[in-house]
Amino acid sequence: MSDSHANGTNEVTYGSYLALEQILALQHPRSQHPDELLFIIVHQSSELWFKEILHEMDLLIDSMTRHQPEFALFRMGRINALMRIVSAQLAALETLPPQHFAEFRTHLGSSSGSQSVQFRAIEAASGLREPHFMQVLSEHGPIPPVVQRALERPALQELFLALLAAEGTELEGLYTGDRPTVLFFLAEAMLEYEQQFGQWRFQHVQLVERILGPMTGGTGGTLGAKYLARTIDQKFFPALWAVRARFYGSAAPAPHAP
Ligand code: HEM
Repeated sequence: MSDSHANGTNEVTYGSYLALEQILALQHPRSQHPDELLFIIVHQSSELWFKEILHEMDLLIDSMTRHQPEFALFRMGRINALMRIVSAQLAALETLPPQHFAEFRTHLGSSSGSQSVQFRAIEAASGLREPHFMQVLSEHGPIPPVVQRALERPALQELFLALLAAEGTELEGLYTGDRPTVLFFLAEAMLEYEQQFGQWRFQHVQLVERILGPMTGGTGGTLGAKYLARTIDQKFFPALWAVRARFYGSAAPAPHAP
């Protein structure tokens, strides 16, 4: 692309810097329904935020690998802020009534959020890497490079435990020491990330149930809300959850617990 602009100069303008002409020309509703634009924009902006989250994750992984927990904490805090934004965006689609969505849903064909390559890359970098998560992607060709890249690096929990080992500490020690350390705050920021991710999953399943109803299958061929509800319990950092039980005696539930 040339650097010159409409006025014939190389002056950077708001529009040229942000490539607005290009980005604003990329929304192509396939139906006549006025609500389809909102549906496209919420998805596209979520994908832009996923791009930024993956970028921050690269930097987070670098910080952990270089044994720089302060920088890792900084990145984790930003990723948490980004996850809150991605979840908040779903509220826009809560204004989409089922009869409106039904009018343009047929135009989606078999396309589905479950084919989101960046979402799978975030999951893989975070620690969800069992082959069946990659199944939907591999049905559409080889594993995409951004996912492959995430799979080739250690997952976040593994990196964090290696960081602890390098500092001569154990996970439990972070929670029992005299005073909190930066590694403790990093562990808690990672747990918050897991919670934020779960919040997105929960808000998304509620949105899906609200628009499609609890029993309608998805365009991607799953059971829809039923399938999505089952994904909420997946954990990226089981060790960070398990360490909490240490303060409550036995980790096993009492025989009559509800
Ligand atoms: C009208 C709004 C929406 C509806 C009705 C909807 C519906 C669904 C359904 C039914 C699934 C399950 C897979 C399938 O069979 O298709 C799914 C998965 C997914 N959707 Fe949405 N969705 C909506 C909005 C969004 C938005 C705004 C995003 C943001 C990127 C998104 C991202 C995803 C992702 C990443 C998955 C895969 C989740 C997983 O497998 O854990 N969806 N969606």
